[in-house]
Amino acid sequence: MISRRRLFQLSGLAALAGAGGAAWMYFGGYRPNSAGAKPISPYPFDPIRAENFQQKLFIPGGSGPFGVLDVAGPLQIRATAASFPILKGQASPFLLYQTEQAGKAYQNPILRMESGTRFQATLQNALSEPTIIHWHGLHTPAAMDGHPASTIGPGASYDYDFTVRNRGGTYWYHTHAHELTAEQAYNGLASFFLVEDDDQRRLNKALDLRLGETDVPLVIQDKQFDGAGRLHYKPNMHESMMGWLGDIILANLTPNAFLTVTPRLYRFRLLNGSNARIYRLAFVKGSTPLSFAVIGTDGGLLDQPQTVTEAYLAPGERLDVLFDAGQAQPGEDVFLKSLAFDPMENEGSAGNMGAMMGGMGGSSSSRLPIGAEFNILKLPVAQGERLATPLPAKLSDIRSIPTEGVPERKIELSMDHMRFLINGRTFRMDEISFEVKRGAVEIWRINNPAIGMPHPMHIHGFSFQVVERLNSPAQITAGARFGRGRLASDLGWKDTVLVWPGETVRIAIDFAHDFPGSQTYVFHCHNLEHEDGGMMINFRVNA
Ligand code: C2O
Ligand code: CU
Ligand code: CU
Repeated sequence: MISRRRLFQLSGLAALAGAGGAAWMYFGGYRPNSAGAKPISPYPFDPIRAENFQQKLFIPGGSGPFGVLDVAGPLQIRATAASFPILKGQASPFLLYQTEQAGKAYQNPILRMESGTRFQATLQNALSEPTIIHWHGLHTPAAMDGHPASTIGPGASYDYDFTVRNRGGTYWYHTHAHELTAEQAYNGLASFFLVEDDDQRRLNKALDLRLGETDVPLVIQDKQFDGAGRLHYKPNMHESMMGWLGDIILANLTPNAFLTVTPRLYRFRLLNGSNARIYRLAFVKGSTPLSFAVIGTDGGLLDQPQTVTEAYLAPGERLDVLFDAGQAQPGEDVFLKSLAFDPMENEGSAGNMGAMMGGMGGSSSSRLPIGAEFNILKLPVAQGERLATPLPAKLSDIRSIPTEGVPERKIELSMDHMRFLINGRTFRMDEISFEVKRGAVEIWRINNPAIGMPHPMHIHGFSFQVVERLNSPAQITAGARFGRGRLASDLGWKDTVLVWPGETVRIAIDFAHDFPGSQTYVFHCHNLEHEDGGMMINFRVNA
């Protein structure tokens, strides 16, 4: 057994070694990195094999599964156990939000609303277990937020009524059932919540983008299935600690998907709806990553497009991008891929944590290790008119939060007894970690120790701005061209930020809102197994 103290001594040693990402070498750990990793034997729907990509990408329509629902009045949303065909028509048990509007039925609708309008819905829990909906990224009063304390039992219902205060952007909603979020979200309880405003309309008009055609919401998830094509979720101790990984990659619930494109611009609203997998996204032709423009992040459009060739996307994060398919010739294929990276799970499968667990905790049951390279979506380029549209120079106004002289709050991530903690604590419903003053601006200095793993940290109730990344690993500094160690995906308004081992990320939060009294929200890791495992704290905003 290696004591915790000893771990930190080792981490000091690793830091002395200097090279980012080298800490694991001290433990002789296997790096599940596609470069030099043992080859994975092919399996049905294996996303590494390009020739598998033969299923038409599921594109949401105006009703039915994931249909776009322009909310026009109070909704009744039933959370219910149903089934959904995912693998070549094989029905899998699946949890769904069912609703109707104007005589049309929807399952897991993509809710669409104008900024500034009122949202009313009643959640009816028709499941056999507790649940609640959280509106990820939306600025709502605490009682409307889907705090785990709002979880309702089977047969109960919960009324939501709030104004959509957020700017236009790609938000989402999902279950936040106390200690059941990971399994319920994995089994289906999640979809998009699109907020419209003038900036969004101006962009889509200027670039002739149409939702469902050239403006494509794309949720990326990794799942496991059993031999009968049913969703499989059964984390062992190792997986409860590190997060559950799938080995079949779904784009809009389509495994091995393709979307035929013509030589013009496409907008992809990417959402990482996975429990724990981080993606290093790139549009690749042959082995060449093509350029794309990041135009938005969690909280809507950036001030201007930023051209990159890759971007990390962690669970809970959104990335709005423009990709010019005219970079390839008709007849060629472009793949949206996840490139290989060092997952920096320094206490992972064969590392010291594995040793501490004496093997009893098992290892990941996924055939696709985190950090492996694989394909997500094939984009075959068809004949078509070459439309070369210049990108707008300005997308929106981003007001920067003034940070001069602002107090800094330390947020320390850590690990103890195979649980990840925030400020040394594991979640307790009745414990408020700290209080902030309504209207105050704070900088949170989130520190992740070198020995550990990456954590996507998410706040409820507010958006934030990433001020600075410090001590980032080499694979992050390589793309940090945006000042103060930041990546393109750190720009604009965020609600989730990935913090790598050894890294410190400083974020600025303006706690202004117009909700009366005290409001309690959570701040947590969006690795859903970590969230359920208690890597979450309450904070209270006081008038
Ligand atoms: Cu999408 Cu509390 O999370
Ligand atoms: Cu959230
Ligand atoms: Cu975490």
